[in-house]
Amino acid sequence: MTNNQSSITLKSGFSFEYANLYGAKRVTEGDVAALAGKITEAHQAIEQMRATGEVRGHLSKDGTPEKVLFSELPYVAAGNLNCPESIAKLKGFSQSLQNRVDAVVSFGIGGSYLGNKVLFDVHCGEFWNYKTQSERNGYPKLYFSGNNIDARRTADLIEHLLAEARLKAVHGQSDFYTVTLVVISKSGATLDTMSTFMVVYEALRRQSPLVEVEVVAVTDPAEGESATLLKKLADEQGWPTFRVPDGIGGRFSIFSEVGLITAACVGMDIDGFLAGARDMDAACQTADVYENPAMLNAVLKFIASEKYGRDIEVLMPYADYLKSTAEWYVQLLAESLGKRTDREGHEVFYGRTPIVAVGTTDMHAQTQLHQDGKKNKVVQFVKVSQWEKDAVIPDVFPTASKLSEISSLHLSQALEVARVANADALVSDDRFNATFVMPQLNAYHLGELLYLLALSVAYEGELANVDAFDQPGVEAYKRLMGPRLKELSNK
Ligand code: PA5
Repeated sequence: MTNNQSSITLKSGFSFEYANLYGAKRVTEGDVAALAGKITEAHQAIEQMRATGEVRGHLSKDGTPEKVLFSELPYVAAGNLNCPESIAKLKGFSQSLQNRVDAVVSFGIGGSYLGNKVLFDVHCGEFWNYKTQSERNGYPKLYFSGNNIDARRTADLIEHLLAEARLKAVHGQSDFYTVTLVVISKSGATLDTMSTFMVVYEALRRQSPLVEVEVVAVTDPAEGESATLLKKLADEQGWPTFRVPDGIGGRFSIFSEVGLITAACVGMDIDGFLAGARDMDAACQTADVYENPAMLNAVLKFIASEKYGRDIEVLMPYADYLKSTAEWYVQLLAESLGKRTDREGHEVFYGRTPIVAVGTTDMHAQTQLHQDGKKNKVVQFVKVSQWEKDAVIPDVFPTASKLSEISSLHLSQALEVARVANADALVSDDRFNATFVMPQLNAYHLGELLYLLALSVAYEGELANVDAFDQPGVEAYKRLMGPRLKELSNK
């Protein structure tokens, strides 16, 4: 298969630009051709996953075969994990918060936090919690907790919420300051999530009637013997519940009720987000590697790593509000592909190391290493083409010629000049890089980007012949931690 292109652009305008990763002194057409057999097999395996949820060799934590269903999530249909009723339930929950609840605290860690933070950042930005209720369109302030067991921050969060409650009471706006605690845990018993939840819950509950506390649980919906601790608690206490469905690992759960509940809390466009993921999935169904962005991304990165030693991937969005997307990607790449053995049990120690960077910020911190350090990295940029708000740099100091020179530029133009200069400098020294282009920073294009990355690691798992959907390595510390905690609390 010959290829003269250097980008794939979807109808939406979303694009994967790979000129600086492909060609002479980079991953070559010959390299891709040499992998043709494996690429075909990988594509067949992904088609099989899409059609049946079956992934060769994938076992759950307890060693039983488990389906992989994340590729179903973009499709809202009767009988699917996201169905019209489940989406209506989320929207109903969203409305129930509007103009009633003052603050939401979302508890969760890993796959029960990282995607939620991405959705919050892209929709709300940095200053959401400083806005008035009407500026937030009636939606509550939103805080995260449980993504660490940090005593000081937890205490600060409680103090902050109580201060807000007192302020509301002083202004005589209403009797109660209403806080909804959204506890997200698939297993329902994660130390980080549950310990901080219990501390915050108890501290706020004690302040009744100043503070009115509500709890919503997001967990495995299994009933009876196999119900999670959180599910049992929710049933006992009468807390409403949402599902972490079977077959959806934490790092793929952003498209499920786990992620969508945060979108619901802040009024983000759930339909648009899923539509973006769905359109990306449609674009990734072709067997032509040069037309399928997820497959091509996986193939180029796999070859870059295996043949050229570029086994570190720096995800570098040029947008502050996409930093958490890079953090989400760290978990996706690390947990999916960092594997000791292949599917036949041979030691392979596969993995590519993910690094978070943000442009332009990290051009003043990491770029020295990217440009002059070991040639072991692929820098994967994310560019936003059109910004909703895009100030022009004014000519405030006409006598300062260096400042005057940049006046009349939009901030986005300065940002893009910096990104392109970075990319060009890197490639001029044979340093691999590529760019995902999001036409705008919105729910739809975010859905496209995140789904592309999720599907891409599924393809790379096939190419590397590792199970991209388990994480046996995290059990090692858990086996040590449990008994030590018990011993410490003398129970
Ligand atoms: O990807 C994963 O499985 C982990 O990061 C989990 O999401 C994380 O450990 C939290 O687990 P739980 O949702 O069971 O509380």
